[in-house]
Amino acid sequence: MKKYKALKNHEMSLMEKEHMEIVRKMAAECMVLLENDGVLPLTVSGGNIALYGNGARRTVKGGTGSGDVNSRTVINIEHGLEKAGFNITTKSWLDNFDKIVASAKEAYLKELDKLSESTGISATMLSMFDYPFREPQVPLITKEDVDKSDTDTAIYVIGRISGEGKDRCCQEGDYLLYANEIENIKFISEKYKKCIVLLNTGGVIDTKALKSIRGINAIMYVGQAGNITGLAVADALLGITAPSGKLADTWALDYWDYPSSKSFSLNDDNDDDEYYTEGIYVGYRYFDTFNVTPSYCFGYGKSYTEFEIKTIDITADSDVISLTVKVTNTGNRYSGKEVVQVYYSAPKGDIEKPYQELAAFAKTKLLAPGESQVLVIEYKLTSMASYSEKKAAWIMEAGEYLIRVGNSSRNTRVEGVIVINRDLIISKHENLFRSDLPFEISSKGKQPYSYPTQEHEKKSAKRIIVDVTNINTEKIVYKREKPIYCNKSNDRKFTMDDVMAGNISLEDLVAQLTVEEMANLCVGSKRGEKEEQSIIGNASNIVPGAAGDTTSLLSSDRKIPNMIMADGPAGLRLNPHFITDADGNLLSGGEVFGEFRLESESNEEISDDAVHYYQYCTALPVASLLASSWDMDLIEKAGDLVGKEMLQFGVTLWLAPGMNIHRNPLCGRNFEYYSEDPLFTGMCASAITKGVQKHPGIGTTIKHFAANNQENNRFYSNSHVSERALREIYLKGFEIAVKTSQPMAVMSSYNLLNGVHTANSYELLTSLLRDEWGFKGLVMTDWFATHNTDFLTGKKERKYPASSSPLCIKAGNDLIMPGGQKDVDEIIRAVYKEEGEGTYKITLEELQYCALNILRIILQSSCYENAKPYIEQFGELPWVIRVNN
Ligand code: BGC
Repeated sequence: MKKYKALKNHEMSLMEKEHMEIVRKMAAECMVLLENDGVLPLTVSGGNIALYGNGARRTVKGGTGSGDVNSRTVINIEHGLEKAGFNITTKSWLDNFDKIVASAKEAYLKELDKLSESTGISATMLSMFDYPFREPQVPLITKEDVDKSDTDTAIYVIGRISGEGKDRCCQEGDYLLYANEIENIKFISEKYKKCIVLLNTGGVIDTKALKSIRGINAIMYVGQAGNITGLAVADALLGITAPSGKLADTWALDYWDYPSSKSFSLNDDNDDDEYYTEGIYVGYRYFDTFNVTPSYCFGYGKSYTEFEIKTIDITADSDVISLTVKVTNTGNRYSGKEVVQVYYSAPKGDIEKPYQELAAFAKTKLLAPGESQVLVIEYKLTSMASYSEKKAAWIMEAGEYLIRVGNSSRNTRVEGVIVINRDLIISKHENLFRSDLPFEISSKGKQPYSYPTQEHEKKSAKRIIVDVTNINTEKIVYKREKPIYCNKSNDRKFTMDDVMAGNISLEDLVAQLTVEEMANLCVGSKRGEKEEQSIIGNASNIVPGAAGDTTSLLSSDRKIPNMIMADGPAGLRLNPHFITDADGNLLSGGEVFGEFRLESESNEEISDDAVHYYQYCTALPVASLLASSWDMDLIEKAGDLVGKEMLQFGVTLWLAPGMNIHRNPLCGRNFEYYSEDPLFTGMCASAITKGVQKHPGIGTTIKHFAANNQENNRFYSNSHVSERALREIYLKGFEIAVKTSQPMAVMSSYNLLNGVHTANSYELLTSLLRDEWGFKGLVMTDWFATHNTDFLTGKKERKYPASSSPLCIKAGNDLIMPGGQKDVDEIIRAVYKEEGEGTYKITLEELQYCALNILRIILQSSCYENAKPYIEQFGELPWVIRVNN
C-alpha cells in the first residue's frame, strides 16, 4: 500500500490557516506605493466604494504554467474590500465584465480546439503555454455607473497575467493599457474625488499613460500576491499593514527605452538568436549610465510616512566596508518601514563601469512616528570588483569608489569615498564562455545621470584610503580529471542501507553500480509512456501533481529511494484533490492545467471505499513581488513556510527559486524571477533557500541556469552573451545563492548559451558551478530538455537541435528530468562506445561522477527519517552582507 502524505480531511488545516495569515501580512508589506497625494491610507473602513477594472473581481493571484499554485481559493480584491467592511457599489459594471469575459472565453475555447487540431498540441498544453486566454477589453464606465455608485472614492484595478512558454507583448491589453482602460481611468478621475489605481501585475507595465491623467490620487503596485491578494490589498489601502515595498526593477517611461527592446524575443522577428548587445547595461545600470529618465527608478517606493536617513559613520578596510546609518520616522501620523540602499560607483579605468551598482541594503523594523533605528550595514570590499575579459580576472581598478546612501537608486547622497591606490587582481580565472557577439554598446563619451549637489557631496564625503597590500590573488583550479571508483567486492550487492549504516562509503556503492544502473539513476522516473503525462503533472504517484521524481527502479535491489520534486516558485504546485481506490492505487484525474482541471474518474467508477486526499498549498506572492519587500527576513520566512508544506506533503526538492535576470520586462516568466539586479536576485534566492533548507532533508533547486531570459522558442533559443555580462549580471545571482546558501540542486535551462545548450555545458555546470563556486548539490535538466518537444511546441523548422543526454552526463548535468528510456539507452550506448566511434563518448568516471552527485543528495534528503537540515553540513559561508540592528 502506498504511503500518501496528503490530508484526508477536506477542512482547512491549522497550517493552511496560519500560512494564509502569515502571507497576508507579508504580501501587504511587499506592495509598492508609486503615487500618493495623501488619499491613502483610507481613513475609514466601511462605506461605499466604486470598484472597477479587470483585476477587481478577476484578480490575478500569480502567473500561469509551472509557476502557478493550486490553492484552495483566491480571495479577490472585491471580496477583500468587502471583508474589510466596504460596500462595493459597482457590481453591475463588474457583472457586465464577467459576461464579456464568459463569451470571450467561449470563443477562445473553440479557437483552442481548432488550434489543437491543426498543430497536434493538446488543448491543455496550448492553454498553459503557447496560447493562454487573454482577457478582453473592459467596458467603458458610464455616468450611470458613477451615479449609482454613490461614493466619492473609486478604485481601479489593472490586472495582467503571463507565464511560461510565451513572452508578453508591447500591445494594448498587455504591457500597454487598453484604450478603454485609459478612458475609464480618465473618466473616474474626473468624476470621483478620490481615484486610486492598483496594478495587479507580475511586473512592469506602461505607466506613461497613467502619468498623463491628472486626477489620479494614488497608484499602488500590488503585484500578484497569492491566494489572499484581496485581503492584503485591503490591509495596505487601510494602512493596517504599511506597504513598504520598493521596486526591484526600473520602470521605463517608454518600453522602447530598455536597451534590449529592439531585438528582444520576437520584437525583431528572430527568436532563434538573442544578442545581448547591451552587455552589462541592464536595468538601472543602463538608465543611469546613459542618462535615460525612467518613470520610476530601481529601488523607488513611497511610504505613508516620511523618513530621514542619516549616515553616522562609514569605515573601510581591505575586508569590509561598514556603514552606520540612522533612520528616523519623521512623520507624525503613521508607522512605516524604510529601506536603506547603498550603491557604489567604481572608477573609470581600462574597464568600462556603470554609473552605479547596488552594494548592500537593509530594511528597518516598523518605526512609529518619531522613532529611530540605527542600522549597521556591511559588505565585502572586493564585491566592488569588475570582470576583465582581457585578464580573465575579477579586478578592482585603482581610483575612487564613491559610496552612495539613500532610499532609491536616484535618491542617494555620496557619503564616502574609498580610495584604492593600485590595481588589484582579486581572482584569476579562465574565460569560459567565448561569445560571437557582433558588438556591445559602450558608455564612452556618454554623460551619465547626475544631480546638482553631487560634486559638493563628493568633496565633503569621508575619504578613506584602504591599504590593500594584504589582499592576495586567488587562483582558481579547474579539476579537469575525474577519479574512477573501482569495485571493491563482488561478494554481495552493496545497498544504500550499507552506506546509511556506515559499512561502506557512497563511493564504494557507486563503484559497484553497473553502467545500466547508473544510467537509470541519472534519468528521472519517466520510462516510455506518453510524455505529456508528466509535464507539470502526475509524475509522482505518491505526491500527485508533483513535477517529477528520481527513479524508483533501484529501490528494491539497491535500496535507493526516490526523491520527489514539485514546482514553485510561488508556493508548492500539487494536485489539490486526488482519489485512490481502497488499495491505495491512484485513480486518474485531478491535474490542473491552465484553464483545465482534469476530472477524476466518473462517479460510477469511484467505489464507496475510495479515498479522497487533499493537498491545498499556499500561494505566496510571486517572486517579483516578494522581492519588492527588500526584506530578506521576510523572504526567508516565505521559504520556511514552503518548507513546512514540503514536509507535510512529502516533497524533497522544490523546483524554485527562479532567478533569471529581468533583462526585459516582456519575458513571460519575469513574475517568477526577482529583479534586474544580480546582487539583489542572489540575496533573495539565498534567503528563500535558507528558509527552506532549515528543515530536515529538503532543499531548493535554483533555476534556470542560465541566460534564460525569454520564453518564445525557449527550448531552442541561443543567447549570445559576453563573458563579462555573464559573470557580472546573468551568473552573479546564482553565484551568490550558491556561495551563501548551498542550494541542494541547480536546474539548467533550456536555451543555448553562446551556441552550447546550457544542459550540455561543462564550462557552466562543472568548471564554473563546482570548480569556481564550490557547489555541492546535484544538477538537473529542465523538463524534456533532451527530447523532441513537438508535442509541446508543434512541429517547427528549428535552427538549433535539442540538447543531448550523453553530453549532459559529460557536462556534469547529473540528472535528466523527467527523462525517458531514450535517455537511458543513449547514455549506456555512449559509455560502451569506443573512442572515436560516433560523436558522443562518455567515460565510466563521468557517469560515476553524476551518479555520486545524485546519491550524495539522496543520502542527506528527507527520504531518510533522520535527515538533518542540509545547510548545517557546510562550514562558514564565504559571502555575507551583515545587518546589525
Ligand atoms: C519549467 C520548469 C519547471 C518544470 C517542471 C518546465 O517546463 O521550465 O521551471 O520546473 O517544467 O514543471
